[in-house]
Amino acid sequence: MHTEYFIVDKDNPDKEILGQAAELLKQGKLVAFPTETVYGLGANGLDEEAVATIFQAKGRPSDNPLILHIAHKEELSQLAAHIPNNAKVLMDAYWPGPLTIVVRRKAVVPDIVTGGLETVGVRLPDSIVARKLIELAGTPIAAPSANTSGRPSPTSAQAVLVDLEGKIDAVVDSGNCQIGVESTVVDCTTPVPTLLRPGGITLEMLIETLGEVEIDPILSGSFELAPRSPGMKYTHYAPEAPMVLFEGESSQVVNLLLQEINTALAEGKRVGALVSTETASRLPAAVIPSIYGRRENVDEIATNLYMALRSYDDHSVDVIYAEGISEEGLGLAVMNRLRKASGYRIVKG
Ligand code: TXA
Ligand code: MG
Repeated sequence: MHTEYFIVDKDNPDKEILGQAAELLKQGKLVAFPTETVYGLGANGLDEEAVATIFQAKGRPSDNPLILHIAHKEELSQLAAHIPNNAKVLMDAYWPGPLTIVVRRKAVVPDIVTGGLETVGVRLPDSIVARKLIELAGTPIAAPSANTSGRPSPTSAQAVLVDLEGKIDAVVDSGNCQIGVESTVVDCTTPVPTLLRPGGITLEMLIETLGEVEIDPILSGSFELAPRSPGMKYTHYAPEAPMVLFEGESSQVVNLLLQEINTALAEGKRVGALVSTETASRLPAAVIPSIYGRRENVDEIATNLYMALRSYDDHSVDVIYAEGISEEGLGLAVMNRLRKASGYRIVKG
């Protein structure tokens, strides 16, 4: 299959070009598109056959439900059987933006979207390109991250093409994604809303807005429990080489990481190190570094994270050692992705 390539300005996208991409979506085809978090792989969310091709292109397990993306807040009522008050509060505070709200679904939402669940995740993205595309397509758009299942999510059109060129009908390019990690997923069907996946809207922000938030046990590391966000059970976001994550107080983390690196080098291993700018300057010359940004700038780290993980596609290493960061704010989402990328191979400092 030939993958068409469209390029548009991120603030003022050409309507004609987006119209061509929207036309493909209307025909039941697959179009990858930018959002403020990561690139999504879109299909008409109410067309079962179109949605089925998303799972094929990504190699995604069929029990992992998809998010529906809408262009206007009012469209939620077409998909949700009931909109709890907490969901309204969250929508008013954070839509458009990096927040997915899980509500009870209406029958119009196909089983294949929800993996058979009676709930559906819905998101109104902030990206102008994403919203215009959805509006022109005239239907909710089902879109997981536009990567091969298990790989780091794409934050550029180039990263989408690395995984999916020849498997999808088109990609819309509007440059790099700003946030860099996926949306926060909040289940609003529980009496107290439950955080299922940390993301662009931080736990601190949710608590400030709602007063009280439950945290899915899977996020505190009890990953043997059945997750309520089914996607959380799969190894994910992973580079090709095995990765070990170092967690804890920063100076201790760096010392342990450097020790482990020296041991591995002495054993003749090719070693990668996914680290902060500060730590990069302390690495032995033989290490292949991938720098995610400055320790005090978690926004920068989130933006660069997946690109940094993907940089090991081009360097064959035997092992990657990753420096953990503080879980404050967006740090919780970054650490959640790093833990999953490491397959929970974690060293605590
Ligand atoms: O930022 C994002 O959310 C991106 C962009 C493209 O919008 N999309 C994305 O989709 O990350 P995906 O499919 O890679 O992740 C969706 C997550 C999965 O962990 C899935 O299990 C969970 O949301 N999810 C979807 N529907 C759900 C539901 N009804 N109940 C619980 N979890 C749900
Ligand atoms: Mg994903």
